[in-house]
Amino acid sequence: MMLFGTQRVNKKGHLEIGGCDTIELAERFGTPLYVMDEDMIRENCRRYLKAFRSGYEDTDIAFAGKSFMTAAMCRIVAQEGLHLDVASAGELHTACVAGYPMEKVLFHGSNKSIDELQMSLDLGVGRVVVDNFLELERLDELARASRKRAGILLRLTPGIDPHTHRLICTGQSDTKFGFNIKDGSAMAAVQKALECTNINFRGIHCHVGSQLLDTEAHEQALRIMIEFISEARKAGFDFGELNIGGGLGIRYISTHKPPTIEEFAERLTALARSELDRYGLEHPKLMLEPGRSIVGEAGTTLYRIGTIKAVGITEEPGKRIYVSVDGGISDNPRPCLYDAIYEAVIANRPESRADMLVTISGKHCESDTLIMDTWIAAPDIGDVLAVHSTGAYNYSMASNYNRLGRPAVVLVSAGNADVIVRRETVEDLVSHDVIPERLGVGLEMRT
Ligand code: LLP
Repeated sequence: MMLFGTQRVNKKGHLEIGGCDTIELAERFGTPLYVMDEDMIRENCRRYLKAFRSGYEDTDIAFAGKSFMTAAMCRIVAQEGLHLDVASAGELHTACVAGYPMEKVLFHGSNKSIDELQMSLDLGVGRVVVDNFLELERLDELARASRKRAGILLRLTPGIDPHTHRLICTGQSDTKFGFNIKDGSAMAAVQKALECTNINFRGIHCHVGSQLLDTEAHEQALRIMIEFISEARKAGFDFGELNIGGGLGIRYISTHKPPTIEEFAERLTALARSELDRYGLEHPKLMLEPGRSIVGEAGTTLYRIGTIKAVGITEEPGKRIYVSVDGGISDNPRPCLYDAIYEAVIANRPESRADMLVTISGKHCESDTLIMDTWIAAPDIGDVLAVHSTGAYNYSMASNYNRLGRPAVVLVSAGNADVIVRRETVEDLVSHDVIPERLGVGLEMRT
């Protein structure tokens, strides 16, 4: 059984998170329910800062908001002294509502709208991470008109292939993201950025991919980025920041063994120092933008088991046991999108032997398998199933497919459980629907 952060088995033999009995949480707040372990999130933020700063003093860590964005999370990020990466007007607005300091925001996106760029200027966002030449020109022009200087980083593509799912690779040359280093666009962009009079060019950025279970791709990227800084220096271009994105993987299942935050930091900071020294370069500010490795393992989804069905899959006695829960692709699209794998435990008896091979499926009109062929204790109707490591890219990618309301998110710590996103009701679901007048007011059924 995997136990993360503050998780333990309590006296009742139930899974407990943040001092809260998960069975009580399921009863009190309903299911499906996202449970976020506040202490573990805070601890991960602190570990990142400490580990990186002890290897490379001038490091800042930004939380990648796309992995889990809510107003309460922005508060935690601010309190822990992390920067914040946002990727849309909606995420930026969330940060704003939470009172997050705008100078510590990094604004990403490969196709930011003019309104989004203007919003970043109006709010005083610290760094817009510019993706392409058109955006650079637009931002320069908007800043001139607003009599402001826009702080920017340039997003570069180092042209390496991190071995992860093809849909979450971004650092390879054939990508929509950023300025390509190999084809010369990146250097041209640096020159252009320095020429723009309303732009404050702060440095360069890259992100190679996500859920990486070793440091190889990050090390390659770091080498390429530092070589690029050296080339830029030779051409007379100077800037002070190097941001190497996010990407550290987490444990979704017991056999995943990602590097710890400390191992990750140790490798990257040692390499950064030695490469910079090798080229005789001053040490720039180093930045990272982890998302998954801060919130992923801190999240658990609680479901209620509704139906159990044994289905003959080959000739008898081959049967697959489908255990259906009250959520699915709408609260966790990752298995369907990325073949993501998870592990689960029956929260009301986590210590019972996991001796039954089952397939956990969702309730949607779709074959929304959540976990294919996994071992759990023999389930009963009404049991609460806890799926581990759902803190990243679950709530943030949730949808209303089949008009299911998105689950509530509860933040737990020291026996307190607080709703930080309330559950969507059926009224919420129709609240944006409009019936045009010409469709009539009553129900005039055709006979
Ligand atoms: N910085 C940038 C520019 C990014 O694009 C990303 C993730 C991150 C930082 C954070 O990466 P992390 O530390 O979380 O790996 N929806 C996918 C993941 C997409 C990642 C997109 N970018 C999933 O569910 O696996």
